[in-house]
Amino acid sequence: MSVLLIAGSPSERSRTAALLEAVGQRLENLRVSVDRIRVRDLSPQALLLADFGHPSVLAASAQVAAADVLVVATPVYKAAYSGVLKVFLDLLPQTALKGKTVLPLATGGSPHHMLALDYALRPVLQSLGAKHILPGIYATDAQVTLTPEGAYQVAPDIAERLDDAVHLLLTESLRPRAPVSGRFEPVPFAQVRCSV
Ligand SMILES: Cc1cc2nc3c(=O)[nH]c(=O)nc-3n(C[C@H](O)[C@H](O)[C@H](O)COP(=O)(O)O)c2cc1C
Repeated sequence: MSVLLIAGSPSERSRTAALLEAVGQRLENLRVSVDRIRVRDLSPQALLLADFGHPSVLAASAQVAAADVLVVATPVYKAAYSGVLKVFLDLLPQTALKGKTVLPLATGGSPHHMLALDYALRPVLQSLGAKHILPGIYATDAQVTLTPEGAYQVAPDIAERLDDAVHLLLTESLRPRAPVSGRFEPVPFAQVRCSV
């Protein structure tokens, strides 16, 4: 199994990236193969101008295709996820997350926008075909603090939630997919009939 960490903050020193890396370290301690994308490292021009064929976009898209599991991390910006993460997700193929398990993470200045993971990011991940989107983890800036040495550390309650999330992520991604015949098929919008 391979896991791809996607860091969606434009900032070089990033609490979001620290939260994401805390997940990455837990996975690597369990000898899980971990790959990484920092969206801020992709060509800004390619992101802004939706250059689907740019080498940095193609390489990142290939990393997504190769992963079984994605951990997608974003800061909350204006009550939603970051713009750079959106322009990156916009450049992926429509079914880029088909069959994949996704763990969403976010950091925010206050707890007020913790639902942004669910009302903003989750529908986009769903539209890209994610098989299973795990419950997200939201940390406030007060829960991702600087040590005297200048590194970010996560608060114990967040660390505990990350432990649980990694456990769930490994369990869910190894769970066999239910046979299609046992599930409802999606209904094309044109075939939806109202009763009024
Ligand atoms: C442009 C901008 C918009 C922000 N909007 C919000 C917001 O709406 N709600 C919130 O809780 N925090 C907001 N914040 C605070 C960031 O989400 C928070 O500081 C986050 O941890 C930054 O993550 P980073 O260090 O990975 O960039 C905003 C920060 C910036 C720079």
